[in-house]
Amino acid sequence: MAVLVDSDITKGLNFQFCKELQASYNYYCASSWFGLKGFSGFQHWFLKQSKEELEHARKLYDFLMARDIKLIPADLVAGRTEFATVSEVFKWGLELEIQVEKDYNDLCRLCLEKKDLTTYQFLEWFLNEQVEEIETFKNFLDNVVDLEGDPSALRLFDNELLEKLKSS
Ligand SMILES: [Fe+2]
Ligand SMILES: [Fe+2]
Repeated sequence: MAVLVDSDITKGLNFQFCKELQASYNYYCASSWFGLKGFSGFQHWFLKQSKEELEHARKLYDFLMARDIKLIPADLVAGRTEFATVSEVFKWGLELEIQVEKDYNDLCRLCLEKKDLTTYQFLEWFLNEQVEEIETFKNFLDNVVDLEGDPSALRLFDNELLEKLKSS
C-alpha cells in the first residue's frame, strides 16, 4: 500500500473528520434545546445543520479511503444543552464554526508547507463552506439579538423559519 499522504496531514484530516462529527452532535444538542423550548423552526434548522455536518464528515471519510488513510479513533466531546437565551445558542454555534475554519486553515497551511497540493485542493471546498456557514450564523445571530426583546416577534420569526424549511 503506497503512502500517499504525509503523517501530519493524515492526523489533520482525521482531526477534521472528528470535528465534523462533533459539529453534527453539537447541533443535535442545540436542536434539542430549541425543541424543549417549543421553537420548532430553530429546532429543525439545527437538525438540518446537523445533517450537513455529517455530509461533511462523509466527504472527508471518502477522501481518507481514497488515499488509503487509516482512521484514528477519537472521543466526542460533551455537547451543550444549557443556554440562557436563544442568541446564546447562535453565539455558541458561530464560535464553533469560526474554530472549525481556523482548523481548516491550519491544515491547508500544513498542506502547502508539505507541498501536498492534492489534499490542499480537496480542502478548498471546506474553506468555502466555512465562509458560507459563518455568514449564515452571523445573520441568524444579528436577527435573533434584534428580536430577543420581543418574545412574540421571536416566535413569529421561528414560525416563519419552520414554514421556509418545510417548503424547501
Ligand atoms: Fe462542517
Ligand atoms: Fe459547520
